[in-house]
Amino acid sequence: KVNAIIFDLDGVLVSTDHFHYKAWKKITDQLLIPFDEEVNNLLRGVSRLESLDIILDHSGLEVSDSEKKMLAEEKNQYYVEFLQELNETNIDSDVTSTLEILIEKNYKLAIGSSSRNAKFILERTKLKQYFDAVSDGNNILNSKPHPEVFLKAASYLMESPENCLVVEDAYSGIEAGNEAGMITVGIGYAADADSAQFSIKKLSDILEVLKN
Ligand code: G6P
Ligand code: MG
Repeated sequence: KVNAIIFDLDGVLVSTDHFHYKAWKKITDQLLIPFDEEVNNLLRGVSRLESLDIILDHSGLEVSDSEKKMLAEEKNQYYVEFLQELNETNIDSDVTSTLEILIEKNYKLAIGSSSRNAKFILERTKLKQYFDAVSDGNNILNSKPHPEVFLKAASYLMESPENCLVVEDAYSGIEAGNEAGMITVGIGYAADADSAQFSIKKLSDILEVLKN
């Protein structure tokens, strides 16, 4: 029985993909290495430093650990600058109305995000009010596909994993949800992930999934 729903943030509730892309693009242009939307899709759900590793792997460029830290930090400065443009008008009405219905139906709601900017984004978009718990990149040691971020969210909600449903747009996130023993629902980029137990087109479709 599903008691709680854990939502990934970026790409599920809010479209920050393009901001991530533009911020990484500034870095890769400086380094004179290739980067495109296809590689950007591989970064969904992946931590900041691991994202840089994926980008560097695709370019063959080798960089020292200390330089990697600096580059990741610089990327985040650009990203946070882009986030200043974000506000509640960037949230789809399908998202807010679905969250309202789920609360009315007494589901517990949590965020399970790899991002260290999750709380900032939730505040800027006024989404924070909908959630009973936020598990994000600041409280985990291992990022998705490791299940830690979702298991923490479940424990904050005091629910066991099998009573939790995860909504994800990242393959790494679907894997994390499956690994956590939760029901997994793919949306957006992960809508056609074979490993997801359910697939939805828009967030409100989750209301149908919950009838199963
Ligand atoms: C989310 C995004 C990833 C991003 C990660 C870390 O999972 O989908 O693309 O790399 O968060 O984000 P951060 O805001 O901490 O750099
Ligand atoms: Mg995502």
